Amino acid sequence: MRQSLIMGNWKMNGSRQDGQALANTLAEGLGSVTQEVAVCVPFVYLSDIQQTLTGSAIVVGAQNVADQTSGAYTGEVSATMLADCGCKYALVGHSERRSYYGDTNASVAKRFIEAQKQNIIPVLCVGETLEERESNRTFQVVDEQLDAVIDAAGIDAFQKAVIAYEPVWAIGTGKTATDDQAQEVHRYIRQRIAARSQTVADSVQILYGGSVKPDNAKALFAMPDIDGGLVGGASLDAKGFLQICHSV
Ligand code: PGA
Repeated sequence: MRQSLIMGNWKMNGSRQDGQALANTLAEGLGSVTQEVAVCVPFVYLSDIQQTLTGSAIVVGAQNVADQTSGAYTGEVSATMLADCGCKYALVGHSERRSYYGDTNASVAKRFIEAQKQNIIPVLCVGETLEERESNRTFQVVDEQLDAVIDAAGIDAFQKAVIAYEPVWAIGTGKTATDDQAQEVHRYIRQRIAARSQTVADSVQILYGGSVKPDNAKALFAMPDIDGGLVGGASLDAKGFLQICHSV
């Protein structure tokens, strides 16, 4: 049985005070849950939020990690630094990084490896744009994004990694993939992993992301290959996010 994982992605929103208030409300409201809950917060607030959440069931993650270990890389944040701040997870290859900041499949693979060197669990984000879906290239795009990391890190690295399928056309648009659309790609990803290792395929958590909301979470999470969610906009509202956490 795979444990469910619900992960909030705050992106570049809110102040320190907003983040602390949100974290406090989540910690108080979550209660006892069997699934894991994480929030990916802006780098500069990682230590604060980690402290706020100490003693709660919620862990912190970063939204990115450098593709180098250390040195003259102005503006970058290394996996060692993230580990220092108590980070358990780091997103790699989020579509906003890929499209606005030029993160390539090759650099995403390096970020994935850097995170694991510090025992941070990378959350590899994959997904197609609307144009790619409409030209029937969804599986090809997902293959390329996955294979770049599998080839660089090895399939066994996915024993300590998470995959997030996030169709780009569903992110922040309010257009969620239907349960069947999402399940189809999740199953495909799991089969692709199974072609290299059935053990890894059986254990790897695959999250769905893209306009997950309190009213669609339950149906998505009920699909056999969907092991939880990566939640953007809706994770900024404590009540809604808690509802999503309890939809597993
Ligand atoms: P959204 O974002 O839930 O606002 O669509 C998801 C994500 O980007 O991870």
